[in-house]
Amino acid sequence: MYYVGVDLGTSAVKLLLMEADGTIVNIVSKEYPLSFPHPGWSEQQPEDWLRQSVAGIQELVRDIDRSQVAGISFGGQMHGLVVLDEQDEVIRPAILWNDGRTHKEVDYLNGVIGKEKLSALTANIAFAGFTAPKLLWMRNNEPENFARISKIMLPKDYLAYKLSGVHCTDVSDASGMLLFDVEHKCWSREMLEICGLKEEQMAKIFESYEAVGTLTPAMARTLGLPETVVVAAGAGDNAAAAVGTGTVGEGKCNISLGTSGTIFISSEKFGVDAFNGLHAFAHADGHYHLMGCMLSAASCNKWWMEDIIGTTEYAANQAPITDDKLGSNHVYFLPYLMGERSPINDTNARGTFIGMTMDTSRADMTQAMLEGVAFAIRDSFEVARSLGIQIERSKICGGGAKSPLWKKIFANVLNVKLDILESEQGPGMGGAMLAAVACGEYASVAEACDKLVKVVDTVEPDPAIAQRYEERYQQYKKIYPALKAVFPQIQ
Ligand code: XUL
Repeated sequence: MYYVGVDLGTSAVKLLLMEADGTIVNIVSKEYPLSFPHPGWSEQQPEDWLRQSVAGIQELVRDIDRSQVAGISFGGQMHGLVVLDEQDEVIRPAILWNDGRTHKEVDYLNGVIGKEKLSALTANIAFAGFTAPKLLWMRNNEPENFARISKIMLPKDYLAYKLSGVHCTDVSDASGMLLFDVEHKCWSREMLEICGLKEEQMAKIFESYEAVGTLTPAMARTLGLPETVVVAAGAGDNAAAAVGTGTVGEGKCNISLGTSGTIFISSEKFGVDAFNGLHAFAHADGHYHLMGCMLSAASCNKWWMEDIIGTTEYAANQAPITDDKLGSNHVYFLPYLMGERSPINDTNARGTFIGMTMDTSRADMTQAMLEGVAFAIRDSFEVARSLGIQIERSKICGGGAKSPLWKKIFANVLNVKLDILESEQGPGMGGAMLAAVACGEYASVAEACDKLVKVVDTVEPDPAIAQRYEERYQQYKKIYPALKAVFPQIQ
């Protein structure tokens, strides 16, 4: 049988066709526009996601026996606000995970409602990209739109709804709304009240590996697939990537280098740190996880290469950065091109190069950009360490994980072993695996991971380079605090 994994990303939807034994048969990618209508805002049209996902699935299954497709599921960009009216029409463009417009609402939630209360109700505090502050923003700034909301959905749930006709969400993605009681896996009545919402406006909650239904007859015809194809709830892209990389159970770690950069630590038990430095969310395997999320990771590389230098020759541009240069750079980069989430929670923070001299080369600046992203992930890593979590090895996935140099920088900046997988298609693979579990192909997500995820190589840190990076990181850490007060003044 075949399983389709839909990775609904920020720059494109990536579709993956997997056989029951984990063999990847086909991968299709379809892009859509991302708009920044004001500095710091970030929006997409849900209809674009749907159009490109449908076209992508049609292409994905074109050359196979389509009667053998059994299930479909998702890893979706998290936190995005999709609002539907009574006719199930989209009311306004989706406000995405990296949108920073809600700083007033975040201040209200964290300051007036209070971080302690938010954490008690939802296991998390407010961040600009989370869904609840966006709903408050709509209530304050677009009251006519807010009044028309019949259903509130997350990006991948909009696709699941269009495919199955069921208003559904899953526990991992719901966790990032700040409306969900993560520990007890239900909507928080009190949070809904704080945001002026009713439970009928919320989607039905499923575990990520549960079937929500099957394709509607109309969608089955459009896709050329049987009506029996099971639609499984799926997960937020980070939880799906964790499944795709086998990061389930107790104390495993995955680093994802997509548009965002995340460090994801799986846990069998529910837990929150005292300062809510990391997000405490439900996991797609039925348990929980902690996560740090930086807003611009591989997107810093894309911005630097394509918009600033003006080339797509990524490997050639990184070629001059040889091992002897690692840990010896005099230039630093703060990767805050969209403000920053974890751990500094500062929508005003901005990207910064610092330390250039007349002999600074383009390669030094490229290296600083790659290192800055790794240092920013290390900031979240340090929060995990401060909680007593020992991480000696991690998986790595996402577009950024294609660069051997970047992987070496990460292994040395974090001083951990990085396990490289047969496929770096984390969320798409995870989505297909969740569909396989929903169809009964595997008894649990853990079993699917055991059988399907294959480590093919390990990048080991080099003690001398890791030591040099330790010293550079101690310098890097001083830069943001020194500039913090300046950022709001230069906008
Ligand atoms: C996680 C987050 C991002 C998006 C990217 O909290 O906001 O990783 O899920 O798609």
